[in-house]
Amino acid sequence: MKILGAGSLHLVYALLILLHMQTSIGSNSTTADDGVKCIESERQVLLAFKQGLVNEHGWPSSWGSEEEKKNCCEWEGVQCSNTTGHVTILNLTKYSYDRHFILRGNLSPSLFELQHLIYLDLSGNNFNLNHIPEFISSLNKIQHLDLYNCNLSGSLPSQLANLTSLQYLDLGYNNFNSVKNLEWLSRLSYLQYLYLSEIDLSKVNNDWLQVINKLPHLTNLSLIRCNLRDVIPQYFPIINSSSTSLVHLGLSGNNLTASTFQWLFNFSNSLVSLYLSSNQFRGPIPETFSHMALLEKLSLWNNQFEGKIPKSFWSGSLSSVRYLDLSYNQLSGTIPKSIKILSKLEILDISFNSFNGVITEEHFSTLSNLLYLSMSSNRLRINFSRDWIPPFQLKYIHLGSCKLGPAFPSWLQTQRNYRVLNISSAGILESIPVWFSTLPSTALLIDLSSNQISGILPDLSRNFSSDSYALKIDFSGNHLEGTLPSFPANTTHINLSTNRFNGSISSLCAIIGMSFNFLDLSSNQLSGELPDCMKRWSSLQFLNLANNDFFGKILSSVGSLSLIETFDLQNHSFSGKIPSSLRNCSKLQFLGLSNNRLSGNVPGWIGEMSNSLSFLLLKSNYFVGEIPLEICRLTNILLLDLCNNNLSGHIPWCIGNLTALARKDIVARPLFPYIGYAGNIASIWTGKRYAHKVPIIWKGREYICEDLSFQRTIDLSSNKLTGEIPIQLSRLSEMHQLNLSRNYLTGRVPPDMGQMRQLESLDLSHNKLSGRLPPSMSQLYFLSKLDLSYNNFSGKIPTSTQMDTFNASAFVGNPTLCGPPLTPSCPGDEKLIDDGVKYNQQDKDEFWKGFKSSMKLGMAFGFVGVLALKIDHPWKHVCFLLSNYMKVYLSNLKGCLCLIVSALCW
Ligand SMILES: *[C@@H]1O[C@H](CO)[C@@H](O)[C@H](O)[C@H]1NC(C)=O
Ligand SMILES: *[C@@H]1O[C@H](CO)[C@@H](O)[C@H](O)[C@H]1NC(C)=O
Ligand SMILES: *[C@@H]1O[C@H](CO)[C@@H](O)[C@H](O)[C@H]1NC(C)=O
Ligand SMILES: *[C@@H]1O[C@H](CO)[C@@H](O)[C@H](O)[C@H]1NC(C)=O
Ligand SMILES: *[C@@H]1O[C@H](CO)[C@@H](O)[C@H](O)[C@H]1NC(C)=O
Ligand SMILES: *[C@@H]1O[C@H](CO)[C@@H](O)[C@H](O)[C@H]1NC(C)=O
Ligand SMILES: *[C@@H]1O[C@H](CO)[C@@H](O)[C@H](O)[C@H]1NC(C)=O
Ligand SMILES: *[C@@H]1O[C@H](CO)[C@@H](O)[C@H](O)[C@H]1NC(C)=O
Repeated sequence: MKILGAGSLHLVYALLILLHMQTSIGSNSTTADDGVKCIESERQVLLAFKQGLVNEHGWPSSWGSEEEKKNCCEWEGVQCSNTTGHVTILNLTKYSYDRHFILRGNLSPSLFELQHLIYLDLSGNNFNLNHIPEFISSLNKIQHLDLYNCNLSGSLPSQLANLTSLQYLDLGYNNFNSVKNLEWLSRLSYLQYLYLSEIDLSKVNNDWLQVINKLPHLTNLSLIRCNLRDVIPQYFPIINSSSTSLVHLGLSGNNLTASTFQWLFNFSNSLVSLYLSSNQFRGPIPETFSHMALLEKLSLWNNQFEGKIPKSFWSGSLSSVRYLDLSYNQLSGTIPKSIKILSKLEILDISFNSFNGVITEEHFSTLSNLLYLSMSSNRLRINFSRDWIPPFQLKYIHLGSCKLGPAFPSWLQTQRNYRVLNISSAGILESIPVWFSTLPSTALLIDLSSNQISGILPDLSRNFSSDSYALKIDFSGNHLEGTLPSFPANTTHINLSTNRFNGSISSLCAIIGMSFNFLDLSSNQLSGELPDCMKRWSSLQFLNLANNDFFGKILSSVGSLSLIETFDLQNHSFSGKIPSSLRNCSKLQFLGLSNNRLSGNVPGWIGEMSNSLSFLLLKSNYFVGEIPLEICRLTNILLLDLCNNNLSGHIPWCIGNLTALARKDIVARPLFPYIGYAGNIASIWTGKRYAHKVPIIWKGREYICEDLSFQRTIDLSSNKLTGEIPIQLSRLSEMHQLNLSRNYLTGRVPPDMGQMRQLESLDLSHNKLSGRLPPSMSQLYFLSKLDLSYNNFSGKIPTSTQMDTFNASAFVGNPTLCGPPLTPSCPGDEKLIDDGVKYNQQDKDEFWKGFKSSMKLGMAFGFVGVLALKIDHPWKHVCFLLSNYMKVYLSNLKGCLCLIVSALCW
C-alpha cells in the first residue's frame, strides 16, 4: 500500500535517538576492558528470555550459559552501565542491517525485571500474540521503548503511564485491542517520538488531540490507520505557545475531514513532513499548506480534494518541498510553469486527477533533482521538443494516458537509470526507434501498451546481464509486427497481446528467470507448434495464447507448469487429446481450449481439479463420448461450456453437485488484476488494471469479457445428448445462464425450475422435450432471454409479468403448446417447419475465421466495430464496449470489454 514509508522514517528517528543516547549512556561501557561484569540475576533474566525464543537465523554466539560467556554485558545487543554493571540497553531489533534477527516465541515476563533498562528495542520480532504484562511499570527508568511490529495483542496496560521517563515510544503495527482511553499518555511528558499506528483509537476519538497537546516535547507523531474520525471543533484544545511543535506528522489512513486543518495549522511553522493520505478530506486544498515554510514532504493522495492547486503553492514559501504527492484526488486546472520554483522536488505525483493543459520543458527546467515523476491519468498534453535534454535523470516515469504522441518521445533516450517507464495510452503513432533496444539495465517495468506503435521490436535482451532485475514488459495493444525478439533472461512478465506479431514463439525459450510468471501473447498472428521449452517455465501462473494460429498437439510437458492458474489456448487449430499431464496442474482455475480441433473424451481426471477449477471452456471441438460423472466433483465451477461438440449420452444425474452455481459467495478473483504491484511510492505500481479478455456468450451474443467473476453458466448445447434433464439441476439456484439447446433431450422440464431464481437466460430449444411447462417457471423474475422453441411441449404457457415479455418466437415449434403469446386459443394446431439445424464443423470454421479477421481488422483501425447493444435488466453481468481509444463507461457495469460477434451456440 502506498501509505507513507513509516519504516524508513522510523529508522531515521531511531538513529537520531541513538545519537542522543550515546552521549547520556556512554558508548564504550560494554567492552571487557572496562571490566564491567554483568549482574548474575540479570544474566538469569536474559537467559530465561532467550529460552522462550527461537531465532530463525540462530542466536548470536556470544549469548550462552557457558562459563566463558558469563559476562552478559559482552553479549550482542546487551549493554551495561559502566558504573553499576546493570543492563541498560537491550537491543534485539529485526531491523538491523548487519545481523539477522527474527525472534519468535514468547515474551518472557521476567524481562521486565531488568529495572535499569534505559533502552529496549525488540521491534520486528514475533511474540505470538503475547500481551504486554502489567508489570512493565517496573521499567521506570526507560527512555526508549520500541515494540513496533512485534505481533503483540491484548490491551495496552494503563501501567504504561508509569514509564514517565519515556522519550521514544513505538507500539505500532501490532494486534492490540481497541484503545478506550489515552489518558495515560499525558503523563509521559518527556515524549518526543510517539508511534501508535494501526492501533484502533476510534473509541478515544477527540481525546487524542487533548492528550497530544499535553506533550510539550513531542516532535514526531504517527497515528496511521488508527480509525480516527472527524475532529469536532468544539473539542479543540487551546494550544498555548509553550505547547508542542510537531515536526513529523503522519495521519494517513484515517477518516479525518477538513475540520482537522484548524488544529493542524497550529504547526505551520514547525512541520517538515505531513502525511494525510487516504482520509476523507474534500473540497479545495487549503492555501495554508503553502505557509509551511519548512515543509519538505506533503502527501495528500487518495482524498477528495478538488479544484485547482492554490496559486500560492508555486510562489515562494513551499520551496523546500522535496516530496509532493497529490495523486488520486479530483484536482483540476492547469499546472503552471511556475512549478519550477520547487527546484528541490525529488518526488512529484499528480496522477489520477483531472488536470489539463500542456506541460512543456520549461515546467521542468529547474527540477534537476527529480527522481519520480507521475502524471498518469490526467488530461495533460506533454510537449517537449525533440532535442530537449532534461536536467533530471528519472527513476520512475509514470506518464500513462498523458498525450505524448504522435512521435515517440525522444527525450526518453536521455534517461538511463529508470526503473519504471509507463507511457501507455499516450497517443504514440510512430514506429519504435532503434535506440529503444538499449534499455537501461535498471528497468523493472516498461509499459508502452495501448498506443499505435508500429514497426519491428528490437532485440531487448542485449543490455541485460543475468544479474539484472526482474523485468515486466507490456507492449499490448499496438501495431508491432515481425517475429518475436529476444527478451532478457530474467523477464517475469510479458504482455504482447493484440499486436501483429507472427512466426513462432521459440525466441521466448531464452527466458530462464526463476520467476517468469505471466505471458500473454493473445490476438496476434503467431503460428507453429508450441515449443517444448515451456516446461522450464515452472513458475508460470498465467498463460494466454488465445487467438493465434498454433497447431499440433498440446504437449504433455505442459504438466510441468505446476503453478499455472490460467491456461488459455482458445481459438487455434490444436488437435489430439487433452494431455493427461494437465492433471498435475492442481492450481488451474481457468482452462480455455474452445475452438480447436481437439478430440477424444472429456477426461474424467478433470474432476481432480475440484479445488481450483472455476472456468472450463471446451466449446467447439470434436470431443465425443459421455460427459464424465467426475465432472460433478467440480464444486468451484462457475462456467462450464461444452457446447458444439459430439458429446452423447445423458447429462450426468449428479449435476446438482456443482455447488458453486448454488452459492452467491463464490467469486473468482482475477489472478493478475494489476500490472505492477502495489507498494509505496517507490514501487512499480501503475494503477492500471489488467484484463484477461475472454469471449463469452451473453444472452445469445458473444462479448469479449474482461471480468469473469460474475459468470454462472452451463452450456451443453449443440451436442447429441439424450435422456432427461436431471431434476437436481434446479438446485443450482444461483445460475445465470443455462443452455441445453440443440440436443436430443426428452422428458419434462424439472418441476422445480422456478428455484433457479437468478436465471437470466434459458435456452432449451431444438430438443424433444415434452409435457407441460412447470408453473414454477413464472417465478423466474430475472429471465430476459427464453427459448423453448422446437420441442414437444404441450398445454398452457405459464403466465407472469416476466413470462409475458417473451414473444411467440420463444415458443414456436411446439405443436400442442397454447396460450399467449402463441395463439389466443388452447390448443393451437399450426404446423411449423423445424429449421433448426445443428452447426456442422464447416459452419464453425467459417465462423471463427470471420471472428478472427474481424477482430484483427478492428484492431488495425484501432477501433472495434461495435453493434448496437440492447442491455437488459439486470445490468450487473453485462459486458460493454470499448475500443483501443474509446472507452464507454456505463454505470453499474462490471468493466467488461466487449466485442460483439454473432453467437455460435445460441
Ligand atoms: C571510554 O573508556 C575510556 C577508558 O576506560 C574512558 O577514558 C573514556 O572516557 C570512555 N569514553 C566514553 C565515551 O565513555
Ligand atoms: C562511564 O560513562 C560515563 C559517561 O560516558 C563517563 O563519563 C565515565 O567516565 C565512565 N566511567 C568509567 C568508570 O569508565
Ligand atoms: C541497536 O541495534 C542496531 C542494529 O544492530 C544498531 O544499528 C543500533 O545502533 C543499536 N542501538 C544501540 C543503542 O546500541
Ligand atoms: C502472530 O502470532 C500468531 C500466534 O502464534 C500466529 O498465528 C500469527 O501467524 C502471527 N502473525 C504474524 C504476522 O507472524
Ligand atoms: C504506577 O503509578 C501509579 C500512579 O502514580 C502508582 O500508584 C503506582 O505505584 C505505580 N506503580 C509502579 C510499579 O511504579
Ligand atoms: C471510515 O468511515 C466509513 C464509513 O463511515 C467506514 O466504513 C470506514 O471503515 C472508515 N474507515 C476508517 C479507516 O476508519
Ligand atoms: C537472473 O537470472 C539468473 C539466472 O536464472 C539468476 O542467477 C539471477 O539471480 C537472476 N537475477 C535476479 C535479480 O533475479
Ligand atoms: C454428489 O454429492 C453427493 C452429496 O454430497 C455425494 O454423495 C455424491 O457422491 C456426489 N456425486 C458425485 C458423482 O460426485
